[in-house]
Amino acid sequence: MLRRIISLLLLLGACQAVHYTPDWESLDSRPLPAWYDESKVGIFIHWGVFSVPSYGSEWFWYNWKTQQLPALSFFMQENYRPNFTYADFAPQFTAEFYDPNKWADIFNASGANYIVLVTKHHEGFTNWPSKYSFNWNAMDVGPNRDLVGDLATAIRKKTKLHFGVYHSLFEWYHPLFLQDQANGFKTQDFVKSKTMPELYELVTQYKPDIVWSDGDWMASDDYFMSKNFLAWLYNESPVKDTVVVNDRWGNNTRCKHGGFWNCEDHFDPGTLLPHKWENCMTVDKYSWGFRRNTKLQDIHTMDELIEQLARTVSCGGNLLVNVGPTKYGEIAPIYEERLRQMGQWLAMNGEAIYGTKPWTFQNDTTTAGVWYTAKKSAEGNVVYAILLQWPEGNVLKLGAPQPSTETKVTLIGYKGTPFTFQKGSGGGMVINIPTITFDQMPGQWGWVLKLEGLSNQATVAPRVQDLLQKMNG
Ligand SMILES: *[C@@H]1O[C@H](CO)[C@@H](O)[C@H](O)[C@H]1NC(C)=O
Ligand SMILES: *[C@@H]1O[C@H](CO)[C@@H](O)[C@H](O)[C@H]1NC(C)=O
Ligand SMILES: *[C@@H]1O[C@H](CO)[C@@H](O)[C@H](O)[C@H]1NC(C)=O
Ligand SMILES: *[C@@H]1O[C@H](CO)[C@@H](O)[C@H](O)[C@H]1NC(C)=O
Repeated sequence: MLRRIISLLLLLGACQAVHYTPDWESLDSRPLPAWYDESKVGIFIHWGVFSVPSYGSEWFWYNWKTQQLPALSFFMQENYRPNFTYADFAPQFTAEFYDPNKWADIFNASGANYIVLVTKHHEGFTNWPSKYSFNWNAMDVGPNRDLVGDLATAIRKKTKLHFGVYHSLFEWYHPLFLQDQANGFKTQDFVKSKTMPELYELVTQYKPDIVWSDGDWMASDDYFMSKNFLAWLYNESPVKDTVVVNDRWGNNTRCKHGGFWNCEDHFDPGTLLPHKWENCMTVDKYSWGFRRNTKLQDIHTMDELIEQLARTVSCGGNLLVNVGPTKYGEIAPIYEERLRQMGQWLAMNGEAIYGTKPWTFQNDTTTAGVWYTAKKSAEGNVVYAILLQWPEGNVLKLGAPQPSTETKVTLIGYKGTPFTFQKGSGGGMVINIPTITFDQMPGQWGWVLKLEGLSNQATVAPRVQDLLQKMNG
């Protein structure tokens, strides 16, 4: 009898667990696991056979073969024997200095809370020993090593960061893909024998908390069988409770379906979106993969990075910052420096970023270059104003925050007294900026004012609350 009752209870429990069906209405109803929104910052890593030529971009193969960039044909003529093929680059993907523990240290020091490693780009080379990749994977040729597994292990051993994988649905030159394409995508031989088996293998083997899909534009979600994969991912996979995915699951899904939205690369709307989104962007302005001929002026400055971070988080996004390691497995010092500098900034100012929600206003209504975030704290609600420029003169006029008699204004990282202020004549507030000596300046790349006790301090405005509700499913 007791056993019967228990099995009945178990059955009831199982019935209550949400079961997702392979259609967007059901899949889109899954709430995004909270860790993702709270994290705010991730690191993207583009690494593959394209890291061998390290010239042009990670699209080297395609841009060379289709002669999109004549410079690439010239580069090949000048530097490689005739008949050298793209596949001939693979043995030179040596990764001899690849130390996943060192990478883990750098990513952790960046202040990021997750990473997304390219496991297979459009070239089709798998950075793990996939059962579905013959001789075009990192174990059989090149590194002779499981690049994905080794980083997953190091990240989990050394840090609390979430481990995520990037994966391209299609491959430029896979014969089965080309055949399906020639058949007008009425056949699915490539998807059934490559994309899908590979995705299931990646998830069961490495248990990623993010499946970051790409290569979506070539065919529909039906062709790629994405909805079935996602239903399995959400219902049955070993990461069903923690995993998040993006929106690139077919030529009809971007900015519409999936988990968080990436929309376009470098997506930076500058306004609040009614859905969780992510701005994936690059430290090298012109490439995701490493380029040996990158110039210093091609590298984003810290001011630019902090601006991207502030704009993105204020508008409800996460920032995914990309670096491209070298073929020999190093993260070049300029990228390491940017990541560590971002970490320095976050170590001081992280309370204005991590776990925040968008405020009523995303940026100020009077002064340009001031972006807001908000947070509930034990002492009350707090609004953070991130200043991208240090105020000129000795006052800062802000239009959005309305002060009360309780209002307190402090500069994060500054040991002096709180700043004084007056009510602005047409609303808002005028903050008096004291003279601060160089040794007392909290930093050099963007400063955060903590505004407590505002009369319009509510963490989020009703309009925003509405949007956030939609955003969280
Ligand atoms: C390049 O390939 C073509 C066709 O296979 C061959 O005829 C030619 O001899 C090759 N050239 C060299 C330099 O190997
Ligand atoms: C990771 O970074 C945090 C601060 O962001 C630090 O407290 C911690 O010691 C770091 N862990 C390692 C292993 O470096
Ligand atoms: C999406 O891909 C399908 C093939 O799967 C094709 O028939 C359709 O025209 C494409 N749609 C767009 C908007 O490109
Ligand atoms: C605030 O941001 C919006 C959208 O990015 C922009 O159009 C507007 O000019 C900004 N406001 C100020 C005062 O700079």
